[in-house]
Amino acid sequence: MRIVVTGGSGDLGGRVVRELRSRGHEAVAASRRTGVDLATGSGLDAVLEGADAVVHAATSQSRPRSVDVAGAGRIGESLRGLGSRAHVVSVSIVGCDRVPWPYYRAKVDAERALEAADVPATVVRATQFHSLAAFLGGAGRVGRLSPAIGDMRVQPVDIDWVAQRLADHATGAVPGGYRRATDLAGPTAYTAAEVAALLAAHDGRPTPRVVRVPPVLPVLKRFSEGAILPGPDAETGGRSFEEWLATQPVPLPRRFHSPT
Ligand SMILES: NC(=O)c1ccc[n+]([C@@H]2O[C@H](COP(=O)([O-])OP(=O)(O)OC[C@H]3O[C@@H](n4cnc5c(N)ncnc54)[C@H](OP(=O)(O)O)[C@@H]3O)[C@@H](O)[C@H]2O)c1
Repeated sequence: MRIVVTGGSGDLGGRVVRELRSRGHEAVAASRRTGVDLATGSGLDAVLEGADAVVHAATSQSRPRSVDVAGAGRIGESLRGLGSRAHVVSVSIVGCDRVPWPYYRAKVDAERALEAADVPATVVRATQFHSLAAFLGGAGRVGRLSPAIGDMRVQPVDIDWVAQRLADHATGAVPGGYRRATDLAGPTAYTAAEVAALLAAHDGRPTPRVVRVPPVLPVLKRFSEGAILPGPDAETGGRSFEEWLATQPVPLPRRFHSPT
């Protein structure tokens, strides 16, 4: 199959490209560095011509309305213009509809844009990747003190497993229209204290003392209430946070991304 991966140079998209190629498919990475700009639509028709499926993994933290939301609409428009019924598999975030944070609101609107696009489409929501959980778990740490937002817990997921599941969807049965797939999550939920202790053990630091920060802002309140945790129907899999951590450099770099 010929499968176009938007954001194919990114953390997740790059892994989807590799996974598809390892399965013998023609995976085409599409992003600005290959001449495709979802914020303008430039290069989109050319790359989507002849595609059997599209994985939409492009994102912009600073411009999600242009890239994630309008980008989803442009993919649909381009496919319709080409007379294509290629299956669009788009990645979203567990609980994005429960957290009033602009990036999460944009993810909800990206889902809606795809639903309105009138193309075969599957939205797959995933929890935070392990690298993001580690980044957040290390954020705000001062010496031996580590903050915890209320009772917040995370159930992070292995980015490589998410890439495999997206590849499964892109190469699997094509739906008649729009559908939400089963959410994806890692096998275990952790409190902030547990994440902080695991990060400290990895780096060889003493276990930090966790200071509870009251969740005063609405976004933090939703996090504290478990809004980003998967529901009971979610599919769990991939490496646990501990297994992922064991493969990481010591000390763990404080970075948001998961470079390969
Ligand atoms: N990080 C997490 O914990 C997490 C959890 C659940 C779901 N997700 C979702 O997973 C997806 C991928 O996230 P990621 O962390 O892998 O992202 P990432 O590493 O930041 O990659 C973003 C990609 O988008 C491309 N891009 C940015 N602006 C573009 C534009 N105007 N036109 C075309 N492409 C553009 C970038 O390539 P160029 O710079 O070459 O354009 C890059 O390939 C996102 O939808 C995100 O919401 C992430």
